[in-house]
Amino acid sequence: MGCLCSLLLPGFLFLISVLHDVVDGQPLVPAMFIFGDSVVDVGNNNHLLTLVKSNFPPYGRDFVNHNPTGRFCNGKLASDFTAENLGFASYQPAYLSGEATGKNLLIGANFASAGSGYYEATAKLFNAISLSQQVEYYKEYQNKVVGIGGKVNTTSIISDAIYLVSAGSSDFVQNYYVNPLVNKVYTIDQFSNILMQSYANFIQNLYALGARRIGVTTLPPLGCLPAAITLFGLGDNECVAKLNVDAVSFNNKLNVTSQNLQTKMPGLKLVVFDIYQFLYNLVMNPADNGFAEKRRGCCGTGLLETSILCNAKSISTCANASQYVFWDGFHPSEAANRILADDLLSSGISLIF
Ligand SMILES: *[C@@H]1O[C@H](CO)[C@@H](O)[C@H](O)[C@H]1NC(C)=O
Ligand SMILES: *[C@@H]1O[C@H](CO)[C@@H](O)[C@H](O)[C@H]1NC(C)=O
Ligand SMILES: *[C@@H]1O[C@H](CO)[C@@H](O)[C@H](O)[C@H]1NC(C)=O
Repeated sequence: MGCLCSLLLPGFLFLISVLHDVVDGQPLVPAMFIFGDSVVDVGNNNHLLTLVKSNFPPYGRDFVNHNPTGRFCNGKLASDFTAENLGFASYQPAYLSGEATGKNLLIGANFASAGSGYYEATAKLFNAISLSQQVEYYKEYQNKVVGIGGKVNTTSIISDAIYLVSAGSSDFVQNYYVNPLVNKVYTIDQFSNILMQSYANFIQNLYALGARRIGVTTLPPLGCLPAAITLFGLGDNECVAKLNVDAVSFNNKLNVTSQNLQTKMPGLKLVVFDIYQFLYNLVMNPADNGFAEKRRGCCGTGLLETSILCNAKSISTCANASQYVFWDGFHPSEAANRILADDLLSSGISLIF
């Protein structure tokens, strides 16, 4: 574990106390709500007319029952581990799935959609669910749950739940960097500011609907994603410095905006989860954490394949994804998600108590 020990220690101590509570079968918070893009989508896109899907092998090959659920991973997402760490016996259902019904809804729901982002037009490009539509679904959810759990219970579900937001990567990698209609019109800084405005609106909307404990992830080191190195690395096999600079700049804005939001909205806990530094360290020092490969994803050649390009016919998919930081061209492996979730837990304690 090396360099991560000091980082993880509070998380582990905390886990011990979690386990005491979990023995009673009571999760630490009543519910969890998840918004964003493919990093946290658990199958909403299965129900859309979009090419951004992953509900076929080899996706899910290391998941429960080897089931390709629509998660962009070989196994569990960081948010799945977070749900487990919080003591939930099952995962928050994808809101558009058949499982999102009756009592299943009382532990929350997942509204995330691969290809979505803070920029509304990103979701449109991929026919994904925009963040504003995700909020509309969340409103619909609230009305449903009053009918299932009663008004009093619904109020505490809403205000005590944890809200997890993970977005922004698609806005850059699948939109800004490849779309002249955007990058000829806005500088990267202007584009980031537009995303910030949309982020602030989104948080204000959630707050107005009763959310009080919100965690938002930073951008990952975009320049270290295998497909980004392939597409934007000009033949170099190293992380693309320019993309990482853009991500850090965005993340700094996210920090400032979040602090301002928290000051403006009484009772709001808004935590920024810095996944950038964590993933950057993993990519720079893979062996410290038991990983052998950081340049290539496991699926196919690992240089690009994602979504429909990562499929059962992909040539040379690796045998053991636990040695890979990345599962496909854009998404971490379950092994990376597992340790990422421990880190999230230690930085998210203030959201729980
Ligand atoms: C509200 O929650 C309490 C405690 O968890 C439970 O006993 C009760 O049945 C719930 N109300 C409804 C209408 O489900
Ligand atoms: C956000 O600010 C905190 C301190 O206020 C700092 O520890 C953290 O690294 C910052 N994160 C980013 C992504 O800038
Ligand atoms: C896969 O790799 C991990 C990490 O190196 C190792 O612990 C595990 O035993 C391997 N699994 C198989 C089936 O080889």
